[in-house]
Amino acid sequence: MVRFQVRDAEVDDAPAMGLVMVESFLSAHRGQMPDAAFAKRVDEWTPEVSAVGWARSLAEPADGNPDRDVVLVAEDRGRLLGLVSGGAAEGAASSTTCEIGALYVHPQHLGRGIGRALLRTAAGRLADLGYTELQVRVLSANGPARGFYEALGGHETGQAVDDEEGYLLPVTIYGWTDVKDLDRDEPGPRRDRGSRARTVSGPII
Ligand SMILES: CC(C)(COP(=O)(O)OP(=O)(O)OC[C@H]1O[C@@H](n2cnc3c(N)ncnc32)[C@H](O)[C@@H]1OP(=O)(O)O)[C@@H](O)C(=O)NCCC(=O)NCCS
Repeated sequence: MVRFQVRDAEVDDAPAMGLVMVESFLSAHRGQMPDAAFAKRVDEWTPEVSAVGWARSLAEPADGNPDRDVVLVAEDRGRLLGLVSGGAAEGAASSTTCEIGALYVHPQHLGRGIGRALLRTAAGRLADLGYTELQVRVLSANGPARGFYEALGGHETGQAVDDEEGYLLPVTIYGWTDVKDLDRDEPGPRRDRGSRARTVSGPII
């Protein structure tokens, strides 16, 4: 068994976050969007470009209020394996609705329980910030991620389209009516609400 830790992201993590995000995105979404849209990502969206975005959002949260956003990373002995971000849901009717904006695990580390640990820890933190409902938008063509969210209790609540560089991509929205539901029944050590970090066990792959 190897252990990984879920903790708050720091500005210094931005370069490694850019690497994980871009490698995971390109590995997962190939074939899930029009070739031209994917090629534009490959050409223009380097780990360095993504890192600049992460550094900015860690320094200045989207709505200017760090108490409304959560950005976490999973790491194993200093190596960053995955990331998650969440905060107020854009355009939601209620200010108590939050959304997961990004959840990416490095392709070499899928199936170790890292995605589940990141999502559950983020959900607990979002609940602590006062949010009640949680939603996530996932490309409708992203079967593996949809399977993951369904396995974690998400229910399909709607369909929409996202604009990817001018290409309108169908997305499915998954929701949890009580964000705390996700943070329950975590196998392994119980989350210590006083601690900023959480260590989780997972199998070696
Ligand atoms: C979706 C993602 C975050 C899942 O992370 P992960 O660390 O591989 O998932 P976990 O190991 O934590 O899986 C937790 C549970 O989800 C379910 N699950 C995971 N992957 C699945 C898949 N491809 N299909 C169906 N169910 C799946 C399983 O029930 C699993 O539990 P189990 O291993 O005990 O059976 C990861 O695949 C990823 O980063 N994908 C690329 C980026 C992406 O699509 N992100 C989502 C954008 S909205």
